Amino acid sequence: MPVIGKKTALRFQIKAKCKVSKARSSSMGVIHHEVDTPVFMPVGTQGTLKGLLPDQLEALGCQIMLGNTYHLGTRPGPSVIMKAGGLHKFMNWNRALLTDSGGFQMVSLLKLAEITEEGVKFQSPYNGSEVMLTPERSIEIQNSIGADIIMQLDDVVRTTTTGPRVEEAMLRTTRWLDRCLGAHQNAATQSIFPIVQGGLSKALRTESVKQLIQRDVPGFAIGGLSGGESKNDFWKMVHLTTDLLPEDKPRYLMGVGFAVDLVVCCALGVDMFDCVFPTRTARFGCALTCSGQLNLKQKKYAKDFQPIDEGCDCSTCERYTRAYLHTIVTVEPVACHLLSVHNIAYQLRLMLSIRESIEQQRFPEFVCKFMANIYTNKE
Ligand code: GUN
Ligand code: ZN
Repeated sequence: MPVIGKKTALRFQIKAKCKVSKARSSSMGVIHHEVDTPVFMPVGTQGTLKGLLPDQLEALGCQIMLGNTYHLGTRPGPSVIMKAGGLHKFMNWNRALLTDSGGFQMVSLLKLAEITEEGVKFQSPYNGSEVMLTPERSIEIQNSIGADIIMQLDDVVRTTTTGPRVEEAMLRTTRWLDRCLGAHQNAATQSIFPIVQGGLSKALRTESVKQLIQRDVPGFAIGGLSGGESKNDFWKMVHLTTDLLPEDKPRYLMGVGFAVDLVVCCALGVDMFDCVFPTRTARFGCALTCSGQLNLKQKKYAKDFQPIDEGCDCSTCERYTRAYLHTIVTVEPVACHLLSVHNIAYQLRLMLSIRESIEQQRFPEFVCKFMANIYTNKE
């Protein structure tokens, strides 16, 4: 029976499906923007990307970005963001926003984090005081931040963890989902996604999906991957999970952003990705191109007067040569900005090419060409 009058903050409409793989393109409407998927979401931690401002992201065509409850919840804090009228207003970003729930960042950043049934306990890196992030508190903070899509607090273990702890984390993630759903105040404007866990176990991933799809949720995230497991294990888990998830809701693979993984996981039916990789690698002097990565610190670029990528229309490639970037990359923080602009432009263009190829029924040809470009050694 249709639910009459039920408000929904997310509309997901599949536009095209690949006939060979599980790839699909869609239009995902949230309050602030209409997002074309498959989509890559650049990560802003403290309210902006490292090396890039929100308006520069918009100029690059970015439709949705990621914020972090852990970072924003401690500085400037939810009350400042609420006073500003929400994170969109605070950072002057009018397009779609997604916030992660915070627990994953604490567990991966802080060795002192301790997980109990109540929540994640950690020491504030700002004043050393003990803080408890419960599912309810995470949602309260995310409600005040006001992102279009918010994440449940989940219990994450490293992919290298084995034994009963993996099952405990998966089961607790479902219990925490129910606490998050109970605490969520803004269902009409903010969509909450549960997170599939279960490590590298087929049985546990299957059970996790089975539990999560019983809840009335607008989309699903796949967590706990891309943490050092083999590509074989990683792709198998994604394949298994997308087979089990409902087709008519978006699927978000957390923390994945290498070009090859984006292409493969789109073929496996994933719609959304996020990763700090393009901006982090820029800080190490690394530029992404369709024939692989260039480390501009290398001497061989000292007299190379081409742009990073002939086919790139970003402002860095329009104006600066590899030789110039090589010269400033080790001394000037602004080089990080120039490389971040290029790397985000690369990432967004890759996703646009994927979407267009799905819509024009030539995704398999796109994958062949992409792989040949990346893996053909031209040196
Ligand atoms: N970011 C990357 N992986 C994860 C995960 O498993 N859970 C959460 N909350 N965030 C992530
Ligand atoms: Zn460029």
